[in-house]
Amino acid sequence: MTDITDGLPLQLTKVPGPRGLPLVGVAFDFIRDPLRYMERMLRQYGRIYRVSLGQTSLVLLHDADLVEKVLRLDFASYGMSRQQEALLGPLLGHSMPVVTDHAYWEQLHSMMLPMFSPKMLQGYLVQTVAAVQEEVDHLAELQHDGKTVEMYDFVRAGVFGALMRTLFVRGLEHSEIPQLLDWFSRTDTYINALVLSGGSSLVKLLPKVRDGARCLKRIDERVYRLIAERKAHRVDEPEDMLDVLLAAVKKDGSPLSDVELRDNVVALLFGGQETTPTIATWAFGLLAANPDKRRIMLDEIDRVLQGRVPTWADLAKLEYTEMVLDEALRLYPPFLFIGREALVDTSLEGYEISKGTSLGFVAWTVHRDPRLWPDPERFEPERHSKEQKRSRAKCAFLSFGHGQRRCVGERVGRMEGLLMLSMISQRFLLDHANGKLPEPRVQMAIKPAGGMHMRITPRVPQQ
Ligand code: HEM
Repeated sequence: MTDITDGLPLQLTKVPGPRGLPLVGVAFDFIRDPLRYMERMLRQYGRIYRVSLGQTSLVLLHDADLVEKVLRLDFASYGMSRQQEALLGPLLGHSMPVVTDHAYWEQLHSMMLPMFSPKMLQGYLVQTVAAVQEEVDHLAELQHDGKTVEMYDFVRAGVFGALMRTLFVRGLEHSEIPQLLDWFSRTDTYINALVLSGGSSLVKLLPKVRDGARCLKRIDERVYRLIAERKAHRVDEPEDMLDVLLAAVKKDGSPLSDVELRDNVVALLFGGQETTPTIATWAFGLLAANPDKRRIMLDEIDRVLQGRVPTWADLAKLEYTEMVLDEALRLYPPFLFIGREALVDTSLEGYEISKGTSLGFVAWTVHRDPRLWPDPERFEPERHSKEQKRSRAKCAFLSFGHGQRRCVGERVGRMEGLLMLSMISQRFLLDHANGKLPEPRVQMAIKPAGGMHMRITPRVPQQ
């Protein structure tokens, strides 16, 4: 393949990368610790390299300009990745986050978008405040009993509770939350192993992976039951996302099938409970490790809220608190990579990218690029001030993606994160039970290994 640069034909070369073993490629090394593995390969091969995982192969990109080229400047040459759709298929089917058929995605997008409008969000705020308030009361009980709290599970229960008051208001009972969350956690083990091993049939034999597959079946049964009950008791005015999806018709005039409904319900339940909780958890952990920054945030929360629960108008005033969230999203972006596929023969950096090549953008390393983020390991929320953002490369911050397929739930996630941070911090100081921030571990999202165990101390807001 050749490319034209400055009017001269350029001989393209193959993307470099580690050789790996027959059949498995580098899957064993990759599964063991994907974050450190990718950092090592970045040092060895540079900002673009290829890895073989099982029967699949993936070109990983670790550079904001390359990401911009693919997601924004030359987006017509790239589409969603069929490899990603297949690997995540058992969980997400052909739902909106993974579907490769662009015309079908457009239909789903226009069905769902109204549920994420600012007007809907204002309604969700009231419900989310109520859900977080329950978590704050629960924290008060734990503190009263002298117990520590594992923040990830704790926040996840709150966020799931909020999801059931906003996007899914009828049919799933509050008492079902622990069971559903347990099934989702165990399913994560299954899907995580599939993704990191490139769909290897060997990993499917592992007992934990088989257990995860069984849990996914339980989730499916529960969601299909929810759909059947809704169909039996229709409402005239849609009240939540499932009503909207049930009332929607596709371009050919047909409604969504039960499988299509299942895929998108599961995708929203998964998207909602996998992302925001990890971010809020890391934010609490980072604040505990950086008390000077925590002081600045607490001062802002006390000044803006004056001891009340947040209103819609307050959210925009919690500027530093939002920068804390952004810094947690920079240091611990929930997803390991964002997938795309070349739709035509093309090139990147003088490397041949043939049609069908799967690409992955790695926020973990882009967010640690010292050219964009000086002293990248340091927790510094000030990096996300309006002035600093303006002067940085467009795709330097990747946590929500970019371009047409950027996260549609970003505002919901940000609102939930802000409410968690502000309402909990108003009442309690959380500190590491063992004095330090846990190591990251990839389990679908990037989570704290062994959990984030924290001591709870009551505080009185300064007014
Ligand atoms: C901190 C919170 C969140 C983060 C970091 C996050 C991140 C992402 C990322 C990286 C993508 C893929 C973008 C791409 O492929 O280019 C995505 C897509 C998506 N997310 Fe989120 N997400 C968050 C919260 C949520 C929430 C709360 C929901 C819904 C309840 C949600 C629903 C979706 C959906 C439906 C898509 C597919 C968008 C499309 O393809 O058009 N997300 N998200």
